[in-house]
Amino acid sequence: MKNVLHIITSPRKDLSASRKLGNVVIEKIQEKYSDAVLKERDLTTNPTPLLDESHINTFFTPAENHSTEQQSINKYSEDLISELKEADIIVIDSPMYNFSVPATLRAYLDFTSRAGYTFKYDENGPKGLLNDKKLYIAFASGNIYSEGPFQVFDSNVPYIKNVFGFYGVSDVSVFRAEGLAIPGIMENALEKGIDSIVID
Ligand SMILES: Cc1cc2nc3c(=O)[nH]c(=O)nc-3n(C[C@H](O)[C@H](O)[C@H](O)COP(=O)(O)O)c2cc1C
Repeated sequence: MKNVLHIITSPRKDLSASRKLGNVVIEKIQEKYSDAVLKERDLTTNPTPLLDESHINTFFTPAENHSTEQQSINKYSEDLISELKEADIIVIDSPMYNFSVPATLRAYLDFTSRAGYTFKYDENGPKGLLNDKKLYIAFASGNIYSEGPFQVFDSNVPYIKNVFGFYGVSDVSVFRAEGLAIPGIMENALEKGIDSIVID
């Protein structure tokens, strides 16, 4: 049995290429693992708050000293992290926004990147605590970033890979619907991304 976590980040619904791509990734995972259990974390309908002082203070206060408010903040963060820990397969729909990830995904990662939960430090430096997971990234962009002069502008896919690599998730596949704003490429960009999907 595979637990699958689908993280959705495009505020667009029917028009969203990353959702369409991510949904096909999910369909293909379900074809491969008929007993897959799917959980959706839609960051657009249920966004993580922007990190403020109360959140940061909570994360750095020992649990036994938490106020009632801090207990609830801590539980919220721990629940997000539990979802990640329980997942065997994680699918992230990731539209390119100003060369990076949507703010909703960035905010989410501020609540999941916690020492002692998703990573730890020891005498050898940082060590990821989420192991044996597969990550699929369903990326959508107006321009092209897989090759060419704008490759260096991509702070989306490499960023997600870095954060999840830091968590210990190194098995990552990326599917791209890219060039969605470029005439001559846009017409087939989503189809090309969908055709590239391989569930390994
Ligand atoms: C706020 C915003 C910022 C964007 N920034 C970029 C960008 O930096 N580079 C790019 O190639 N496309 C950019 N785009 C285009 C989107 O990446 C493209 O429309 C993509 O399909 C969005 O994903 P979605 O279809 O899943 O909503 C941007 C779109 C929006 C709405």
